[in-house]
Amino acid sequence: MPKTKIAGIGHHVPENIYTNDDLTKYMETSNEWIVERTGIHERRFITKGEDTTTSLGAKAAKMACENAGIEVDEIDFIIFATLSPDYYFPGCGVLLQRELGITKTEIGALDIRNQCTGFVYGLSVADQFIQSGMYKNILLVGAEVHSVALDFSTRGRNVSVLFGDGAGAVVLQPTTEENQGVINTELHSDGTYAEELSVISPGSHSGVYNREVNYGFDEESDLGGFFITQTILDEGLFHPHMNGPLVFKKAVVKFPEVIVSALKKAGYESNDLDLLIPHQANLRISQFVQKVLKLRDDQVFNNIQRYGNTTAASIPIAMSEALIEGKLKRGDLVCLAAFGAGFTWASALFRF
Ligand SMILES: CC(C)(COP(=O)(O)OP(=O)(O)OC[C@H]1O[C@@H](n2cnc3c(N)ncnc32)[C@H](O)[C@@H]1OP(=O)(O)O)[C@@H](O)C(=O)NCCC(=O)NCCS
Repeated sequence: MPKTKIAGIGHHVPENIYTNDDLTKYMETSNEWIVERTGIHERRFITKGEDTTTSLGAKAAKMACENAGIEVDEIDFIIFATLSPDYYFPGCGVLLQRELGITKTEIGALDIRNQCTGFVYGLSVADQFIQSGMYKNILLVGAEVHSVALDFSTRGRNVSVLFGDGAGAVVLQPTTEENQGVINTELHSDGTYAEELSVISPGSHSGVYNREVNYGFDEESDLGGFFITQTILDEGLFHPHMNGPLVFKKAVVKFPEVIVSALKKAGYESNDLDLLIPHQANLRISQFVQKVLKLRDDQVFNNIQRYGNTTAASIPIAMSEALIEGKLKRGDLVCLAAFGAGFTWASALFRF
């Protein structure tokens, strides 16, 4: 059975840099607060009317194909991970196919909605397709445009200072090389805390979950009319909601757990790792994980300082930068790990 190799990597981030000081023009916050709690100094935001999640993804995808030495027409399956799609439906997968000018229809396009773990979940799905021999060139993209939907008033500051826009992509191919390819992937979920990091309205829930959640549901309406209510608009319920301390508490447990588990299954220890690329949620989380696993600075790659949390895009952007900076080399033992909304958490261990 073939294994899955990462044949090419690419990324694209918008040109517009917003520093922490820039955000103080919109909300009550400070550079000191943001740096101290998150490690973030700046992030990139798209120019309104120019870019979309799909167009950022397309630029990253072209770079990944070039890096893999293939034409975009050779792609036989697209996996697109995002929580900020261009449209409610159809998903970004088909939009990316169109944007890349792939006109052949002997191709599938799958959208993944797993937020911060979307890229690792996508890699696991792609790995099964490659191992089974179904596809030979899978394009896996993680891309986000958060800036259009964040609440940049003081009300939304605990969330909006964290996130940025960007995209990353990889091309996955079969390999029979002994010292190359995906070793294992591990996926986890716990729906107990689904609303603790979420955008729940508008949605089809009609308020049925009846928890301590403000859905903005208009009880006067019966048929229709309760999808987008005035309350949702007035109270900004369409913006992301996050219980930051809870997310932090869970993340610092699940990150090390899923990394140690991946290494152990393959007979490795953290000392054997050449590079850990954690989802860029918060520099403090990554530093905590590094300490728990007793990893050296050169074993962990972080770039959240410059991009903020780009959700599904954060890992492939980091992979691409690590490759460019010479920190990710062929033959390296690499672990990707992510934790986020759901909650979901996941890891992927591979030889690059
Ligand atoms: C978001 C996060 C940085 C907040 O840090 P925290 O220490 O937990 O802060 P809290 O939410 O408890 O808020 C502490 C205070 O800071 C204030 N605050 C929140 N955001 C602020 C901001 N951007 N600027 C200034 N003050 C802010 C709060 O209002 C609160 O004030 P109060 O004590 O007067 O009520 C932190 O919880 C975190 O990183 N969580 C994980 C988030 C994450 O990784 N999300 C993505 C998952 S993939």
